[in-house]
Amino acid sequence: MSPADRVTVRTFREFKKRGEPIVVLTAYDYQTAKILDTVGVDALLVGDTANMVFYGQPTTLSITLEQMLYHTQAVSRAAGRALVIGDMPFLSYQISPSEAVANAGRFLKEAGAAAIKLEGGVEIAPTVKHLVEVGIPVMGHIGLTPQAVHKMGGYPVQGKNEKSVAYLLESAQALEEAGAFSLVMEGVYAEAARKITQTVSVPTIGIGAGPGCDGQVLVTSDLLGIFSDFKPKFVRRYANLSEEIRKAVSSFVSDVKHHRFPSEEESY
Ligand code: KIV
Repeated sequence: MSPADRVTVRTFREFKKRGEPIVVLTAYDYQTAKILDTVGVDALLVGDTANMVFYGQPTTLSITLEQMLYHTQAVSRAAGRALVIGDMPFLSYQISPSEAVANAGRFLKEAGAAAIKLEGGVEIAPTVKHLVEVGIPVMGHIGLTPQAVHKMGGYPVQGKNEKSVAYLLESAQALEEAGAFSLVMEGVYAEAARKITQTVSVPTIGIGAGPGCDGQVLVTSDLLGIFSDFKPKFVRRYANLSEEIRKAVSSFVSDVKHHRFPSEEESY
């Protein structure tokens, strides 16, 4: 694959212009990222959901910058075509714009990412502007922002009333003006998400935000049915890998226990 085929922030803009839906999935490891990259996923988001999915923590809050860089390095090594986006962990960008630049820069310098993502609305726009000015492409993230779980008292869907829609719209416009190349919209009522998508020129990537966004993102383990404790309404499971893994590993356990593995052909 030539460097010209690589998805960049410019490709994102072109996708929106020609109305081609953008496909984003999360990835935290080399092997999964390698598979996703070869089947047309446009961007690999090394999300801080790794803290829940990979590390088994109850929220995204406790993952560290070092952990995020480690996962981003693994994903970057696998990506040939897809844009790699590193997710800024809680308190790595909120303290000051200069600290945000120092931390975000590490995703590009040390981890091979081509962009970063951060959560927040109009209040985070000055930081986004600063990051973009120094050459760090930023994906915004508005709506239900999981790093604000304690502020929100859970994970409520956003954009229910006029005031909430006005705040989302103001945030989307402020982030666009600050130079964000794209916006994740998470947990937003479909009508509000469609309105915002039609208002801003940068592509919106929805998760639980209905069909009116310019692209869609899911957590890969949800799509594959690896995480089976519960299924949010917006998730469509395309496989039941937890069951497949259970079946395969049960067969292995049984074969070893009953001296059926390894066979002569599998021995030296
Ligand atoms: O951290 C993450 O994986 C995300 C996506 C769910 C959008 O932010």
